[in-house]
Amino acid sequence: MKVRLENLTKKFEEVVAVNNAGIEFEEGKLTGLLGPSGCGKSTMLYLIAGLFKATSGKIFFDDEDVTKMQPEKRGIGLVFQNYALYPHMTAEQNIMFPLLNLKVSKKEAKERARKMAELVHIDELLNRKPGQMSGGQQQRVAIARALVKEPRILLLDEPLSNLDARLRLEMREEIKRIQRETGVTTIFVTHDQEEAMSISDQIVIMRAGFLQQIATPREMYDNPVNEFVAKFLGNPPINLLHASVTAGKIDVGGFEIDAGKLENMDILVGIRPEVFKIDAKSTVQVEIQAFEYFGRETLLFVVFGDDMARVLIDSDFPCEKGETVGLALKNRDMLFFDSEGLRIYV
Ligand SMILES: Nc1ncnc2c1ncn2[C@@H]1O[C@H](COP(=O)(O)OP(=O)(O)O)[C@@H](O)[C@H]1O
Ligand SMILES: [Mg+2]
Repeated sequence: MKVRLENLTKKFEEVVAVNNAGIEFEEGKLTGLLGPSGCGKSTMLYLIAGLFKATSGKIFFDDEDVTKMQPEKRGIGLVFQNYALYPHMTAEQNIMFPLLNLKVSKKEAKERARKMAELVHIDELLNRKPGQMSGGQQQRVAIARALVKEPRILLLDEPLSNLDARLRLEMREEIKRIQRETGVTTIFVTHDQEEAMSISDQIVIMRAGFLQQIATPREMYDNPVNEFVAKFLGNPPINLLHASVTAGKIDVGGFEIDAGKLENMDILVGIRPEVFKIDAKSTVQVEIQAFEYFGRETLLFVVFGDDMARVLIDSDFPCEKGETVGLALKNRDMLFFDSEGLRIYV
């Protein structure tokens, strides 16, 4: 089922947590809802779930206006960051709970709980209580509990935040697999750009209550609408280098770029660290100020025009602090931003 927000606003007194949002969450897809802490992600999720009442605007599930519908009628499965399992119940009882609430027979509830447990790979653990399971296993139980009612939409609010780094990687692949197998329309809230990039079909990025961009991970990375989105995606982050346009040319650290019809102005040039390459013959020579070795790749910090730039290269290239190297650009577009951080297209 498709979820559509129309001019959706939620105010908490003077705080506008969600500001006039118009968004379509695609049917059967996994949408990553991404943005820094406090930007309104959870609020948007709880508006969709019906736990918060909208201040204004509308929410549609397909063509049905659900803005005023009671939460329990919406057919939502919700998973929280802290799992929120009942500690005195076994995994099986936790998963069955929503069904017993709906007056499904005990026999059928048990059957459906077992199916869900198989889907999330915890069928061996059904007799354990939450305290006897790892964080990842508890999160699987929470996902099974959310899915057992066969919801129309699965909403996950930072479900991996309490897990350690390795388990997070494993669980995000699991969530992707479970989403694919069930085909349920899913909204996955995270503040972690890499997490959103890795599992989403579509990313929605927010800032201070405002929608910034909706796009596939690749489109958003390659073609951000503004400096905020460009900076939010990618690690190591994009370089934003000061440059000016003079007489139809942009000079950025010695590279000269055709400025098209741009008038004389100061701009920021966005260059992703991996877009640079080492080229001994280049006319642009820079000094390595420092470097970080990551194994497969090495990150160089170099003085570039008036800025320090990050340059990501293959570790095959031996480098030393203080050494001077030639820099070239791979054949990829650079991004230009004005002083307000808005994208300029040349
Ligand atoms: N129940 C509430 N009462 C008052 N303010 C709230 C409430 N919930 C959220 N807020 C405020 O709304 C804004 C968005 O919060 P939230 O949706 O939780 O952000 P996120 O999930 O992106 O971290 C924040 O400024 C937060 O303080
Ligand atoms: Mg939140």
